[in-house]
Amino acid sequence: MRTLIVANWKMNKNLAEASQFIQDLLAIWKAGGPGAHSTEVVIAPPYTALSPTGEALTGSPLRLAAQDVSAHKEGAFTGEVSAGMLADIGCEYGLVGHSERRSGAFESNAIVAQKAEQLCLNGLKPIVCVGETLGDRESGDTAEVVLEMLRSSLPPPGTPGRDKLVVAYEPVWAIGTGLTASPEQAQAVHAIIRDCLEEEMGEAGKRTRILYGGSVNPQNVKSILSQNDIHGVLVGGASLDAIEFGRIFGYLDSEDLPS
Ligand code: 13P
Repeated sequence: MRTLIVANWKMNKNLAEASQFIQDLLAIWKAGGPGAHSTEVVIAPPYTALSPTGEALTGSPLRLAAQDVSAHKEGAFTGEVSAGMLADIGCEYGLVGHSERRSGAFESNAIVAQKAEQLCLNGLKPIVCVGETLGDRESGDTAEVVLEMLRSSLPPPGTPGRDKLVVAYEPVWAIGTGLTASPEQAQAVHAIIRDCLEEEMGEAGKRTRILYGGSVNPQNVKSILSQNDIHGVLVGGASLDAIEFGRIFGYLDSEDLPS
């Protein structure tokens, strides 16, 4: 499976910063070794920077993602952005169910599933995020919590394009904390996610990419990606700097980078 590396900028970067980042990243990409060119790299800017970032990426192998989407098709939903609008500006992926939205915006599994469905119906690939809290892990409930979240957050069976979705396992306790699940801890959860995807989606579930997210950085990415069921990473803080992010997606050493 082709490794997928996604930069989630969250609520960071104005237009000038986004533009500078893409310029720097494309230079790093061009200078990058085989590692860089065999991975699929996706950037998820905030809504305001989506369209110009998409334009800056045109003609490059880098792809565009939205950080969220409305659960509705269109209509009187003030402040929301539909999947059709995201398709219109060239988004290929959309994050749904990020823990910061599940907790901060009270998104239920049912809402996440509707959002994923809207993305599929408009030709975008959902990246469905799931993950347990520290409390869940400490009480031994990780598997149960993650699987319930996953099953209830998938778009309904029969949704066109459902087979192209991506799952991101992001333990809440590892997000933005500097704590990372060990490669073995992450692999253990990815393996149960894989089994669940096969149960829910049959053959397509065997091919679904499962990403890890939570304090990924250039130092730990290699050991994380060495695991069988980890096919990429979803990066927050370390994706904000083009050089640091370049080291993640290409495993680039500093001497490989343009000065
Ligand atoms: P950090 O890489 O900053 O821990 O964030 C992870 C994340 O939430 C990506 O979606």
